[in-house]
Amino acid sequence: MSNSTTHAHIGAHTIVEDGCVVGYRYHPDAGPARIGSNGIIRIGTIIYGDVEAGDFLQTGHHAVIRAFTRLGDYCAVFHRVVLEGLTELGDGVRLMAGVYVASRSRIGNQVFIGPGTILLNDRYPGRSDRIEPRGPTIADEVVVGGGCTIGPGVRIGARSFVGAGSLVLKDVPEGMLAVGSPATCRPLPDHLDRPNNRDLTTARYDLWHPRCDLPEDARW
Ligand SMILES: CC(C)(COP(=O)(O)OP(=O)(O)OC[C@H]1O[C@@H](n2cnc3c(N)ncnc32)[C@H](O)[C@@H]1OP(=O)(O)O)[C@@H](O)C(=O)NCCC(=O)NCCS
Repeated sequence: MSNSTTHAHIGAHTIVEDGCVVGYRYHPDAGPARIGSNGIIRIGTIIYGDVEAGDFLQTGHHAVIRAFTRLGDYCAVFHRVVLEGLTELGDGVRLMAGVYVASRSRIGNQVFIGPGTILLNDRYPGRSDRIEPRGPTIADEVVVGGGCTIGPGVRIGARSFVGAGSLVLKDVPEGMLAVGSPATCRPLPDHLDRPNNRDLTTARYDLWHPRCDLPEDARW
C-alpha cells in the first residue's frame, strides 16, 4: 500500500500512514490540503483539498474530512468520523469514533463529542423547495455525550453538557445540562460545572501513538 500526498502541504513530523489520501482532488480547481506539524494521519483517512488543519492533528482509521473544513490545533478526528465540507472546528476538539458532522456546522474550542453522535443540517430533507443547510453551532468547552442527535441550526451554549443519547432540537443556553429525548435543560450540577480537562482536549498524542509510552496499566 502507499499513500497520496501530492496535493498537500504537510508540516514537519506529521506522520501519514499507508493507504491515506491527503489533498484529494475532488475538482480540477481544488486547492491543496494544508496540514500542520506533529500530526498523525492513520491508515484509510481521506482529507480533501482545500482543508486546513493546525498542529497535532490526529485522525483515526477511515476518517473523512471534506473540502473547506478548517480545524485548529490539537484536533482529534477518530475512526470513521465524517466531517462534511464547509465546517469549522476550533482548537482542542475531540470527535470520537463514528461522529458525523453535517456541512455548515461550527464547533468552538476545547469541545468533546462522544462516539456515534450526529450533527444534522436540514430540517425538511427532500420536502422543502428552498435548501438552506445550517448545521449546529457548538460553543467552547461543551461536552456532547455519545449517541446524541443535534438538530439543524441548534446552538449549544458554552460549557454545557449534553447527556448520552439525547435528542437536542432546541437551543441550549450556556452552562446547562441537557438530557433526554427531546432534551430538556437544567443548570449544570457542581461536579460538571468546570472547563474541559486539557489533558484530554489538548493531548499531543493518544494512547496508540508511536511516540506515546504505553502506560503501566495498559494490559489486563
Ligand atoms: C449526563 C451525565 C453526565 C449525568 O451523570 P450524573 O451527573 O452522574 O447524573 P445522574 O446519573 O445522577 O443523573 C441526573 C439526572 O439526569 C438523568 N440523566 C442522566 N443522564 C441522562 C441521559 N443520558 N439521558 C437522559 N437522562 C439522563 C438521570 O435520570 C437523573 O434524572 P433525575 O434527576 O430526574 O433523577 C451522564 O449520565 C452522561 O450521559 N454522561 C455521558 C457519557 C458519555 O456519553 N460518554 C462518552 C465517552 S465514552
